[in-house]
Amino acid sequence: MSEGSSLIRGLEGVVAAETRLCDLDGKNGRLAYGGYDIEDLARQATFEEVAYLLWHGELPGKPQLDRFVSELISARSIPRELIEAFRLMPRSTDPMRALQAAVAILGMHDPDTTDNSHDANRRKAARVASQLAIAICAHHRVRGGQEPVTPAADLGHAANFLYMLTGVRPSATAAKAFDASLTLYAEHEMNASTFTTRVITSTQSDMHSAVAGGVGALKGPLHGGAGEAVMHTLLEIGEVASVERFTEDALRTKRRLMGFGHRVYRAGDPRAAILRGMAEEACRQSGQFKWFQISVTLHERISAAKGLIPNVDFYSAPLFYSLGIPVDLFTPVIAAGRIAGWTANIIEQHDDNRLIRPRGEYTGAGRRAFVPLARR
Ligand code: SDX
Repeated sequence: MSEGSSLIRGLEGVVAAETRLCDLDGKNGRLAYGGYDIEDLARQATFEEVAYLLWHGELPGKPQLDRFVSELISARSIPRELIEAFRLMPRSTDPMRALQAAVAILGMHDPDTTDNSHDANRRKAARVASQLAIAICAHHRVRGGQEPVTPAADLGHAANFLYMLTGVRPSATAAKAFDASLTLYAEHEMNASTFTTRVITSTQSDMHSAVAGGVGALKGPLHGGAGEAVMHTLLEIGEVASVERFTEDALRTKRRLMGFGHRVYRAGDPRAAILRGMAEEACRQSGQFKWFQISVTLHERISAAKGLIPNVDFYSAPLFYSLGIPVDLFTPVIAAGRIAGWTANIIEQHDDNRLIRPRGEYTGAGRRAFVPLARR
């Protein structure tokens, strides 16, 4: 761009879309979906109710919820071809890469694939939310040489996820903690992966294409991939007594501390505070309290030294670990929650669309004469 321009690196502070989904108050550290405080939703609503709220704009009444849950349950199957594709993938395939491929394959089999109408998008959102969870668990089982676990129709979305992962029905406490964490991850306005889904949608592409792009954006360690990196940090530290030495080294070498900092929150990420309580309980109950203790000690030490706040991905790491979720599935699990928000944003974007197309600030060579190949 050569006309007078104002470059905003990383689009910080740029308002890119109107949204009725999520109200993020970074200054005061507050978050609400559709007007409901995140803490109330995490503690008192199920992930299914939250998905309904994001897709319909209101919390469901009992008959609406019953119908909605039946719709989600009836979508609990993935094409045989997708399981075959998982079997053909190298065993070492990263679960997020497999998930991105899975979303593309699900798009090949969805009856509404190219229909971008509001109603078709709503139907696809329900299907892809159910199928994403199944795909994550099926890929995990297949790469370990196991058969996928058939979904259990009598379990809620979160409990069924844990069941499909392990083949064991989770305790009510584990299911509730996992359900609440899916809610906490469900939506967060123009974060990088959701913005990606909006950009793809704005070209009038379809929901599966947009979600596949969202998965790709979430994978990076500055975004959803941070949770996995936090757990590697905790494992590297290993003992509470080693936090001090780790912190000194990290500060001296100016190491990027995963799970800390946020583009928007200044006073603290409200989700981290809720997850901290959940992690404490889950770590204690699973006999792995050490991971919570290391997390708290590291949090206090880093916040005191650098003023950095823990973000959503910090305490979810010891929580997921104590729930028995394999470390390389932390990011897919975040996707299993964020699918509700991605699809809600895709619906919102399709319903009031304008192509998203920012400008670039040109910093290359000035205009010059072309030199034919023979003379270069
Ligand atoms: C998520 O946007 C969303 O809403 C995302 C999310 C969602 O729900 O979708 O909330 C989920 O992605 C959480 C973030 C997960 N990522 C991490 O935990 C990775 C570690 N954190 C960062 O790299 C960083 O804080 C970001 C990516 C989260 C934010 O990056 P910004 O806004 O571009 O900030 P920056 O990297 O430019 O940092 C500003 C300053 C720098 O210092 P100065 O050069 O100004 O002196 O703060 C320092 C940074 O060095 N800093 C850090 C740090 N985070 C910021 N220093 C060390 N460790 C960190 N984690």
